[in-house]
Amino acid sequence: KNYDFGLVGLGVMGRNFILNVADNNFKAFGYDLDSEKVDALKEEGGDLNKVDASTDIKTFTQALAAPRKIMLLVPAGKIVDQVIESLLPHLDKGDIIIDGGNSFFTDTDRREAYLKEKGINFFGAGVSGGAEGARKGPSIMPGGDADAYEHIKPIFEAVAADFKGEPCVAHLGPKSAGNYVKMVHNGIEYGMMQLTSEIYDLLRKSVALSNDELHQVYDLWNKGRLQSFLVEITAEIFKQEDDLGDGRLIDKILDKAKQKGTGKWTSQNAMDLGIPVPTIDIAVSMREISALKDERIVADKLYDRPEPKAIDKDKIIAMAEEALYFSFIIAYAQGLHQLAEASKEYEYDLDMSVIAKIWRAGCIIRSGLLDNISEAYLADKNLPNLLLAPSFVPKVQETMASVRELVAYAATSGIPVPGLSNSLNYFEAYTSSHLPLNLIQAQRDNFGSHTYERLDREGVFHTEWGK
Ligand code: 6PG
Repeated sequence: KNYDFGLVGLGVMGRNFILNVADNNFKAFGYDLDSEKVDALKEEGGDLNKVDASTDIKTFTQALAAPRKIMLLVPAGKIVDQVIESLLPHLDKGDIIIDGGNSFFTDTDRREAYLKEKGINFFGAGVSGGAEGARKGPSIMPGGDADAYEHIKPIFEAVAADFKGEPCVAHLGPKSAGNYVKMVHNGIEYGMMQLTSEIYDLLRKSVALSNDELHQVYDLWNKGRLQSFLVEITAEIFKQEDDLGDGRLIDKILDKAKQKGTGKWTSQNAMDLGIPVPTIDIAVSMREISALKDERIVADKLYDRPEPKAIDKDKIIAMAEEALYFSFIIAYAQGLHQLAEASKEYEYDLDMSVIAKIWRAGCIIRSGLLDNISEAYLADKNLPNLLLAPSFVPKVQETMASVRELVAYAATSGIPVPGLSNSLNYFEAYTSSHLPLNLIQAQRDNFGSHTYERLDREGVFHTEWGK
């Protein structure tokens, strides 16, 4: 009974996470029904002398020191409930279960309430950074009981990614706060991925950049203000040779993007909260459009599209850098706006500055910008939107002209850039003191007597239109 940490689910993420725990001098015990996975972990972790594993749940639970700290890295959904049920007979009051998967936040709330009745502390902890992150240091987003968190804090702080001496993990709030933050992280991830892919499309269709040139461009950007994990791996992707044939792998990959649902959930819940996140919405829609490959092929033959207009290579590369920087800011702004509202609605009491901080390393959306974002929320913890932060005004202002020009170029050249244009139009609308929605109010009142308010006097009005 002397293992510090238990882990259920020894797939790639689970195995890597447990080895990370052991690397940091905690004794960790793994559990999986699949004996091959158990053996693989024992073999890999054997010389660390700190890892053991079993297919037997009793052996597993009996090996753990009290209070037991058991992390689940299993697919989101029913399996989480099944694992919880199988563990319950072997647990004692005060034990802790941590769901490290991308569970839907209301499932986490349900499980937390159910387990609380049984005296078990339940955490939803988003883990970002893929397989490599899990092994070398992910960003971890835990939510749950603050006192119980003290038991898992030393382990999480040791295994999490390190950003200049600070661990990329923090107790984010009660109940599903951690899962919710991870969900929005993924929404922002979808947005940033869509934006990077649109810029790639623009550069190859306008000035026919080769994969080598694309590699150089993204690599250079990654050394500047666009420094980020996604730009870094994009540069790497253009270099990858096809292992099954000639040329670069990127040119052989089918242009249909899959999704597991976290981006869609972000958009759906943003709608419920009444917070606009159009960059994330369109990123989800584009994955859906991409899936309609057969229809796209038919439609492509039905319509003419203009030839991309001639443009100077250096000029468009410079504009693209500005547009990507601008739209990354917009993607973060929308996601953080959603988090601020969710914090009120679900009583998470989120600290946006801390969230930006723990995203600075380890996770998929890590970037140089997050340090600035964290500072902006430190300066004003009630900042409604990043676009209102004084430190962000010049960053956005200096890139505006290029974004407008690039979106116009794309439109007249027949190149779809819905992520960029949604980001631009979100900005144009959010920063307009006058929008034409007075007309919508007039229409609503006209056809449905829905009433309207006035600019020049208090009250609610209705007009008998046309009379
Ligand atoms: C992360 C990722 C990860 C997610 C993948 C795939 O933060 O490490 O967000 O949790 O599962 O990115 O997501 P999709 O299959 O929906 O693209």
